[in-house]
Amino acid sequence: MSGIPIDSPAPANNYSHSNLGMPKSVPPPQLPLGFFAIAALALFTDGVLGIFLGSRVVGNPTGHLAIGMTHMFMLGVASMAVLGAMHQFIPVISAQKLRDPKLSYWGGGLFAAGSIGLATSFLLEVNPLVVASGVLAVIGVVLLVINLSKPLMVKGKGISITGARISAIMLVAVACFGITYAVDRNAHESFFTLSPNLVIAHAHIGILGWLGISYVAVSEKLWPMFMLSHRKSNRSSQIAIWGLALGVTIFVVGMLASSTAIVATAGVIILIALGSHLYTLVSVVSKRRRKLELLQGYVIVSALFLLGAIGFAITAVTASQGSQLRTQLMAAEIVSLGAWIALAVIGHAHKVVPFITWGILRASGVKFTRNNKPLVFSDLLNPMVARASFVMVAAGFALIVVGLATTSGVSFSIGSAALALAAVAVSSNLAIRPSRMLSHFGEAG
Ligand code: HEM
Repeated sequence: MSGIPIDSPAPANNYSHSNLGMPKSVPPPQLPLGFFAIAALALFTDGVLGIFLGSRVVGNPTGHLAIGMTHMFMLGVASMAVLGAMHQFIPVISAQKLRDPKLSYWGGGLFAAGSIGLATSFLLEVNPLVVASGVLAVIGVVLLVINLSKPLMVKGKGISITGARISAIMLVAVACFGITYAVDRNAHESFFTLSPNLVIAHAHIGILGWLGISYVAVSEKLWPMFMLSHRKSNRSSQIAIWGLALGVTIFVVGMLASSTAIVATAGVIILIALGSHLYTLVSVVSKRRRKLELLQGYVIVSALFLLGAIGFAITAVTASQGSQLRTQLMAAEIVSLGAWIALAVIGHAHKVVPFITWGILRASGVKFTRNNKPLVFSDLLNPMVARASFVMVAAGFALIVVGLATTSGVSFSIGSAALALAAVAVSSNLAIRPSRMLSHFGEAG
């Protein structure tokens, strides 16, 4: 150990952006890392739940067990991870600090408590608790959006910031729809009938409006950066973001009005928007000046799940209304959209988290590896484990989707087990090396 050239140890909170060449607007590292850690824990929990509940969930994809697992994933995993990415990137892209990091500690904590409470109360079918947890989640969302609103309101920062502004509005909308449904459910639907149309509307505001537009907005900046790929125009990203915003809004109106014509129109607009997003991916990958690596693997398989979701949605429309087949196809569509976002988030986390932990290590004085080489991002994770995690995540979601589409509980449970394992592999792979370096450096100091 003594061979490691080290500077005099500095306290870990010496994380001043200037001496790391980072813009001053970057939030404290524990904020995005906190969101990512909760997302990993929720993915592990949902995976374990899926192992034991698989056969009952595929047997009734709209039952309380399925709804519980859906919210553990959509809020605890996908929303938490996307919020982590938003907290890291929006202040950087807009060069504007958050209002106050404390607002996001509180907002994130309340949203996390609300998410876990919501999933648990759906699983246990305790409706008053669904309402209480929903209220926590809504307050959390409001605090987070207030905090992000300062960097989001910066003018002239391009389509990524515009897209993030729209997705933040969609997050508030999906939470408001959700809490309204929770109150109605608790009152035995005495205010309105909670029809499948209403639930599907809520689900797509969340998955396409909040999560989908967030991903398209952030990838508009991240893909060219991580793939060293330059595009002359970002027209395709503009079409993707505005198309999704318009398409999802018209879709919700069509579902609430039970109008097939309006829903079909919305469907066409959403298809054009998603097609434009996929065109962006093809053009960025084809113009890249970097060799293919793990991130592209994640992003391309993520895009394949998006194509799968589109296939399930179109097939579901042709199946007869209210039939078990339509329910199964809709469930497979929802999970495929979830996989689209999850693979993209986990893939980018293998770039973003080392970038953040590298900053922490550098700020603490760790500038070289054991072999006396300057510390670089790739020193902070094990590439073998990263590749194995990719296979587990991709196979896990594929098996879950097949399980739902074919009502195979075994396939669903094995897929869930793979995701639980992947959650452990990804989080330990991104945490162990940096924390070992930090603790070793402390001792050496
Ligand atoms: C404050 C937050 C939220 C609350 C209180 C909430 C509440 C609800 C309620 C009451 C239902 C209807 C359950 C039923 O059919 O009886 C529901 C369904 C659903 N929600 Fe949420 N929701 C919230 C956030 C979200 C978010 C952020 C997403 C996605 C990103 C989401 C995705 C879904 C999906 C996919 C369903 C359908 C589940 C199924 O049928 O299996 N929800 N939600």
